[in-house]
Amino acid sequence: MLTYTYYGHACFLISDGEYKILVDPFLTGNPQAKISAKDVTANYILVTHAHDDHLGDAPEIATRLNAEVVAIPEVLTLCASRVDISIKAHGMNIGGTLNLPFGQVRMVPALHSSGVEGGIACGFIIKIFGKTIYYSGDTALFSDMKLIGERDAIDYAILPIGDNYTMGIEDAAKAVQFLNAKHVIPVHYGTWGVINQNPEDFKKLVTGAEVHIVKPGEAIQL
Ligand code: NI
Ligand code: MN
Repeated sequence: MLTYTYYGHACFLISDGEYKILVDPFLTGNPQAKISAKDVTANYILVTHAHDDHLGDAPEIATRLNAEVVAIPEVLTLCASRVDISIKAHGMNIGGTLNLPFGQVRMVPALHSSGVEGGIACGFIIKIFGKTIYYSGDTALFSDMKLIGERDAIDYAILPIGDNYTMGIEDAAKAVQFLNAKHVIPVHYGTWGVINQNPEDFKKLVTGAEVHIVKPGEAIQL
């Protein structure tokens, strides 16, 4: 069984029952989060970039759980600088694939700023339990999403729809076409007024994929 648990904003957990992959763990200060950084669990923590609403509580959670943080080296350096003890970390970069006990993580481009000098924002392709999940991270629409969709048959695309900092609903609907994704889960909306969007409006714009609107604190089976 593969489960997607949404903690609000752009933080979620993917679990196959054995391994738990926590992504962009912004919990402290996240108005949508119903779980605190001290209660969340993970074996791996993926961080797309160093903005506070993504790097979030990664240093403290990694320290507490001895979980491995996977990110761009510049993001890892910043992450490590925030805690006293050393963090288990794996640095990688755009285009690289990491084999892990549950499957694979590949780092793919995103069109966004990174939040740290010398860094670059990224997305992830996560292969687990026979499913391919694409999480774009914060990004604008870009045409190489077609390439990402050609390279891997995407079962689930997790995409921001909030606008202002990322794609809005129209560009995210176009992204679903580019990616040729079978299912899509919107994130990164409604956290603050500036990114308020109605996910039902997004759903109406999406063609050829099933849209799953998951509320913060809820989980769905993938
Ligand atoms: Ni950002
Ligand atoms: Mn963000």
